[in-house]
Amino acid sequence: MRVPIMAANWKMNKTSGETREFIKTFKPLVADVRETEIVIAPPFTSLQAAADLLEGGNIRLAGQDVFYEVSGAYTGEVSPLMLKDAACSYVIVGHSERRQYFGETDETANRKAKAAQDAGLTVIFCIGETLEEREAGNTFDVLKRQTTEGLRGVRADGLVVAYEPVWAIGTGKTASPEQAQEAHRFIRSELVTMYGGAADTIRILYGGSVKPDNISSLMSKEDVDGALVGGASLKVDSFAAIVKYGQET
Ligand code: PGA
Repeated sequence: MRVPIMAANWKMNKTSGETREFIKTFKPLVADVRETEIVIAPPFTSLQAAADLLEGGNIRLAGQDVFYEVSGAYTGEVSPLMLKDAACSYVIVGHSERRQYFGETDETANRKAKAAQDAGLTVIFCIGETLEEREAGNTFDVLKRQTTEGLRGVRADGLVVAYEPVWAIGTGKTASPEQAQEAHRFIRSELVTMYGGAADTIRILYGGSVKPDNISSLMSKEDVDGALVGGASLKVDSFAAIVKYGQET
């Protein structure tokens, strides 16, 4: 039985004051949630503010990115140990926006994932095809490359995969539950090749325009084990409704 994860990716949004405001309202709304792991990835500058309010509760913190070295002359970067020190237990690696705007490759994402696991962080490893790749019929080839190259040497324990079709991110176009399941099933089969039976324990999240009104149908699919939520995670009510999908809020 895989415990679902609902993860908020705030991207470059919310100051520490706005983070505090969000968490103060959000925390009591989800305080009774036991069967779903809740993760929030604020910007680095808001981690401390979030950590102060989340200590001892049922909401975990994530970094949105990480560098693969432990320390040194890497201006602007944040190490896995620094994220641990800032109370993170998760980190997002290889997000399509990092790949698209900041030169992230399968190779750098792979190094980051390994370094993050070495520091004891659970990696949320993002993969997904662009619209051109989907239209050219290359979706499975891309997912295969991103998993085999990106996850080489990465352990199953401490790994979560996020399938985020690039054409669905921030566009309002969600993959249909069937499209998501098809991709997730393919990813699971790749994970079986890499990890054998342990592949069954790896949560595969869906990301891309997840909203309160589409989460239940996505979650009804066998290989969809949660969601990585961007836009809809910025508002307390909508993220709480996603976390508590299928219940009255
Ligand atoms: P979105 O972003 O929910 O705004 O589409 C998802 C993501 O990029 O993780």
